[in-house]
Order: sequence, then structure tokens, then C-alpha cells
Amino acid sequence: MLLDKTNVVLGVTGSISAYKAAYLTRQLQKKGAQVQVVMTAAATEFITPLTFNTLSNRNVYTGMFEGDNAGTRHIDLGKWADVILVAPATANIIAKVARGIADDLLSAILLAFAERKIMFAPAMNVNMYNNPVTRENIEYLKGIGYYFVEPDSGELACGDEGAGRLPEISTITEHLHRYLHSGKLLNGKRVVITAGPTREFLDQVRYISNRSSGKMGYALANEAAKEGASVTLISGPTTLKPPSGVETINVESAQEMQQELRQHANKIDYLFMAAAVEDIAPAQQDSKKLKKEFINDNLSIKVNPDIVQDFRDKDQEVCIIGFSLEMEKGLKRSKEKMRQKGLDYIVWNDPEQEGAGFEVDTNEVVLIAKNEETYKFQKAPKRKIAEQIINRVVMHNE
Ligand SMILES: Cc1cc2nc3c(=O)[nH]c(=O)nc-3n(C[C@H](O)[C@H](O)[C@H](O)COP(=O)(O)O)c2cc1C
Repeated sequence: MLLDKTNVVLGVTGSISAYKAAYLTRQLQKKGAQVQVVMTAAATEFITPLTFNTLSNRNVYTGMFEGDNAGTRHIDLGKWADVILVAPATANIIAKVARGIADDLLSAILLAFAERKIMFAPAMNVNMYNNPVTRENIEYLKGIGYYFVEPDSGELACGDEGAGRLPEISTITEHLHRYLHSGKLLNGKRVVITAGPTREFLDQVRYISNRSSGKMGYALANEAAKEGASVTLISGPTTLKPPSGVETINVESAQEMQQELRQHANKIDYLFMAAAVEDIAPAQQDSKKLKKEFINDNLSIKVNPDIVQDFRDKDQEVCIIGFSLEMEKGLKRSKEKMRQKGLDYIVWNDPEQEGAGFEVDTNEVVLIAKNEETYKFQKAPKRKIAEQIINRVVMHNE
């Protein structure tokens, strides 16, 4: 499991979203972590230590001076922890850490933690979050290596609108995983990525193709290589530079892509099908340039084989991430596609959204898992979207 043998001190502070830390405790344990909860006095006003005690099967610490081993607890917990996650993190705890204040157990542990592998998931009112004092504290802590998960925006518990909501639990665990394992997420894994369009030739010069630029697939290849995978990129014609550290195989037609892909059946861990494989091809091909007088109004077209389904038929084990470009009823149609083709995940994008789909450098997608869990990734550069897709798939899958 992804957080196997990971000792996490989970600091819970006095935010209205403190109850969500109970789900977080469970989620961290599911991923294999040992979780030691430390609560501030304010946190106990929102949720009881008993809840965490029951969930974590450990004593929950709430005070500096209570119980056995009180004298060295703030030091011992820092030695035990691989990481300290403060979620939710109040404006107050962030301010205290930034100024080295250690007036309760959690702040003392944070100050005494020599490794300083510390992650905050802030949650607070939008005005508290945007206050220049809080901003400065956060920037200062980021500057000396502390990790912050951006809060979500939306309606807050107090009724105000804006940034300050505790992010989804899955987002927090994904960030924790990335924080601890960045650069190693796909160590030892073999990954094949297809990218770009295919060209379906009518003759030596004419072809049917589409507007895919290959940018999403290339971004995935770069990111998978960065995370330690051994990557093969099977690319249709693009103008992009082959990513470094990636074996790149250039193909033109869907048939060539299928042949290359088949070589990898039962040999890989992940297949990202980001290519826009042409669905149709001229029924006949001419080896020379067809003369105009031989071309009539009714050129016959055939449907290309479904190369991802073909791959699934040959390899039942590989984790396949498909991509779908759908406009109307896109989510529903993408789910159907995932089921029909036996995919593990599908990434849906809607080219009608500004800054998504073909040719552009950004994307906005929804990742759907086989169990129908869905994750929306806001508009961002394709590199960032690739990072999020890989992270979420690896987190979800392993
Ligand atoms: C109902 C209620 C909700 C609160 N929610 C938050 C919050 O979400 N974030 C925050 O920074 N402070 C919040 N506060 C204020 C903190 O609880 C207060 O600053 C406290 O001193 C924080 O202590 P701690 O950082 O030691 O947990 C809230 C207070 C109340 C009464």
C-alpha cells in the first residue's frame, strides 16, 4: 500500500471542519499509514478525542502535561513521525509555527520535529485566509520548505464565499503521497502512452486525420518518466519534441499504432491511451496519387478497429486509462465507453470548454474510475493535468 510503514502525526486544530479529520484518519489507515492524532484544546470543542481514539486505535494526545511520558512526548512524537500533517490547520497554528511559538503540545511537536517534513491543509474563513498576516505566514513557511495544500473555494461554513474550505480528503492524501514520494510514484513500473492523431491514407498524399496535437500524451510521458517509470511513447505525427528519457516510437496509421501496441501486451503496468486514434479510414488505399478523375462523390469509408479494446482483449491485467472527447452528455457517454471497452479509468474532456481539448496548452478534465468515483481537475497547463491524473490513478490503484 502507498503509505505502508509511514508514521503520520495528524494534528487536528480548532476549525469547524475538524470532523473531516475523522474521515482523513480512516483514509490514511486504508493506505497503510500508522496514525497518531494530536488535538489542540480548541479542536476538542468541535470533535471528541474518543472519536479519533476509536478510529486510530491509539491514545489521542490533547495536552502537554497530561498522562505518562509527558516530559518528552513532544520530542518523542517528532522522532516517531515520518511526517506531520496538520489538517485542518487554523490561521492560529500557522501563525504560531511561523513565529516558533510552542505553547501547547501540537505546536511544540511541530517546533521540535527535526526533519521538518510538515504539511498543512488550511481551513478558515476567507478573510482570515486572505489577511496579509496569514498570507505572509504561509509564504514564509513555504519558503523554508513546509508544504501547503491549497484550500478549496466556495461557500464557507460561516456563509461567506471564497477560498478557505478544507479540500476533499482524497486531495489531501494525494498531496501527502506526492510530498513523501515525489519522483518515485512510478518507480519500477512499465508504462505505455499513446499520443497524437493518426493518419488514414487514401493514397500517397491524401489522408483523413484530426486536430489532435499530442500535447496531453507528451505531457503524460514526461510526467511518468519524472516519476520513475520506464516509458514508451507511441506517437502519431506531431510537431512536438520527443520527451527525454522516454522511448518514442513514431507511427502514422491506427493500424501501425495497433501493431506497436500489441508488442506490449502482458508486459506493462499502465497504458494511457491519449492518442486520438482516427475512427474512420478510406476503404481502399492507392499506393500512388489517385487521379482526380478516379475520385467520385462517394468515396467509401470504413470504420477502424478499436485498438484499445483489442489491447484489453489481449491483456486483462494492465491498468488502462482511456481518454474521451465528448460534448453532449459527455460524462454519461464516457462512463459507457469505459464499461464497453473494459477500461479502468477514463479521462473525459469537453472541447467546447474554453482552454480544453485539442491544440491548446491547457486542459480541464474529469477523471472517472471504474467504481464511478469522479475527480474534476480545474483548467491548468497540460503538464499539471498530467501530474494530477498520474497521482490520482496511482493513489487509487495501489
Ligand atoms: C464555530 C467556530 C469555528 C471556527 N472555525 C475556524 C476555522 O475554520 N479556521 C480557523 O482558523 N479558526 C476557526 N475558528 C477560530 C479558532 O477556533 C481559534 O482561533 C482557536 O484559538 C484556534 O486554536 P488552535 O489553533 O489551537 O486549534 C473557529 C471558531 C469557532 C467558534
